[in-house]
Amino acid sequence: MSDTTTPARQWRETWMNGSEAAESRLFEELVMRMRDVQLRNQAQVSDGRKLRTLHAEILAGVDDAIFEVADDVPPDLRQHHFQPGARLRCTVRLSNASGIPHGGRKPDMRGAALRLHLPDGNVHELLLTNYPVSHARDAVQSVQFASIMSGARSLLLPRLLFTFGPAEMLRILRNLKSATGATRRLADESFWSRGALLWGDAGPVRLKLHPAVPPVSGMHAPPDLSSDFAQTLLQGDVLYQLSAQRYVDDVMTPIEDGCTGWDESTVPFVKIATLTLSTRDLRSPAAMATAQAVDATPFNPWNAPDAFRPLGNLNRIRRTVYDASAARWTATPPH
Ligand code: HEM
Repeated sequence: MSDTTTPARQWRETWMNGSEAAESRLFEELVMRMRDVQLRNQAQVSDGRKLRTLHAEILAGVDDAIFEVADDVPPDLRQHHFQPGARLRCTVRLSNASGIPHGGRKPDMRGAALRLHLPDGNVHELLLTNYPVSHARDAVQSVQFASIMSGARSLLLPRLLFTFGPAEMLRILRNLKSATGATRRLADESFWSRGALLWGDAGPVRLKLHPAVPPVSGMHAPPDLSSDFAQTLLQGDVLYQLSAQRYVDDVMTPIEDGCTGWDESTVPFVKIATLTLSTRDLRSPAAMATAQAVDATPFNPWNAPDAFRPLGNLNRIRRTVYDASAARWTATPPH
């Protein structure tokens, strides 16, 4: 892939296996392996519900959150619809990350899927999870790991060891232990894009969505995160802040390596916008119908204007994997 020059910096994406064609062939194989993961997960659910391959369980869904761009968003990040004071309607789906619903009975990560409704009728989707870096270094590791985790429990460790070798296995297990070790209240969670995405002429960024008001430390999460979130929203608005880190260079801010963080102490986050979920009763019939409709909405980080396309191999594979997954759980497959 050739260098892309931005006013400020140079950055590049690199094809896996050396060329676009070779990467496409590799991804075709990986997409089939993710299909097998989905089918194996599906076989474990007795009620026959069709499920997303990952993030199968919704915790909350609203379709009228307000995304308001900060008045002081830095000039270089004022790209396209991200202009100071702009207000966009936003659909939000908060989820458990597992491919099998478990009602909070298992350690898990959480996800936040945002669909920004743009003035021109298009959408811009941002998907984030509640840990800054991916357990998987690249797309191959990601699919290998998902595949092992959907297999027999008794073979997990030998398979992880055989596939990744001792050093990578330990790194992955440590990442997962940190990522799933603490259960926080949903309104207290922070979410990261983990991978980079393009931000118009500003070049690549990574994103973080975090509570606008820092959570009270020591607050224990109740087992039912969904009901707790409903209770929180009954009592007042829930506000998050969206912040971005800018690309510096391939060492400090790698694009193809998903397991390496962009160090906040040297690459600070800057505020882009506030996301407000207004006070309501999520248990009312109307709110529950909305959540059901949100749950039936397939999200894909590639549902974005070209100027904001996701970057890096972990993101490139998501384009097909998400569509293939959604084609098996939605009544109307995505186009
Ligand atoms: C690297 C950063 C990633 C983040 C932040 C992320 C986040 C998310 C989130 C929030 C969802 C739930 C979307 C919804 O609510 O509908 C999701 C779903 C999903 N993710 Fe990821 N993900 C990442 C990487 C990957 C990778 C590398 C793969 C596979 C190779 C993958 C496979 C999937 C699949 C199959 C779904 C279900 C899609 C559907 O059926 O609609 N994700 N992800």
